[in-house]
Amino acid sequence: MNESKLRELDALLAGQDSPRWDAFYQDRAKPCPFFGTSPDESLAQWIDEGRIQPGRAIDLGCGNARNAILLARHGFAVEAVDYSRSAIDWAGVRVAEAGVTVSLVHKSVFELNLASGCYDLVYDSGCFHHIAPHRRTEYVARVVDALRPGGWFGLTCFRPEGGSGYSDDEVYARRSLGGGLGYTEHQLRTIWSEGLQVRVLRQMEKPSAQSGLFGERFLWVLLAQKA
Ligand SMILES: C[S@@+](CC[C@H](N)C(=O)[O-])C[C@H]1O[C@@H](n2cnc3c(N)ncnc32)[C@H](O)[C@@H]1O
Repeated sequence: MNESKLRELDALLAGQDSPRWDAFYQDRAKPCPFFGTSPDESLAQWIDEGRIQPGRAIDLGCGNARNAILLARHGFAVEAVDYSRSAIDWAGVRVAEAGVTVSLVHKSVFELNLASGCYDLVYDSGCFHHIAPHRRTEYVARVVDALRPGGWFGLTCFRPEGGSGYSDDEVYARRSLGGGLGYTEHQLRTIWSEGLQVRVLRQMEKPSAQSGLFGERFLWVLLAQKA
């Protein structure tokens, strides 16, 4: 798809952009599953197992930085990116409270100058399923390019029952992603096998409230590695 077509489709979906997220983050007390401080159970597991080792990491669509903070606590050098000003402001508060170092970047993933082949971990919890279909290929290419050989990509993403149920065509007909797109196992495997090897793809666990971990059964978790 050429650049002018991409921009035309961006414009069609302009209402889905960062201002919508700024409004979403206005009320920090809202009972939203990912507004807490708990990191993803999957990310915690992969670190505890030693599968993912400390290194240079980037959290795409970081929200309030709950996962970036976990990474920093485990010795990762972390960048955390979000195109919502409200999200980054909140992340700044959370990072200061946690007493860790995270480099916060207020930008769209598509405007980032990502260092090629330099990241040990690219992490995405809930960002990819908000990426419009016409930007999907570019998003995947950016992730793959950013990783060093042997580097990891971790993803948390809507299962079909968690997403809007919209097909790619419906997204454009309705001018909306309907709150995020659900993916089948086959779709995720196909999309993330472009340049990566999928090592884990499973339903997310819902940990007990006491665990200090986040998880919902309407989500997938995926861990893939660059060859
Ligand atoms: C469902 S929230 C998840 C937030 C966080 N990762 C978490 O799990 O708590 C999705 C986040 O992705 C961000 N986002 C969506 N598209 C983005 C883009 N193109 N560039 C940067 N951030 C984006 C939104 O602003 C929002 O903060």
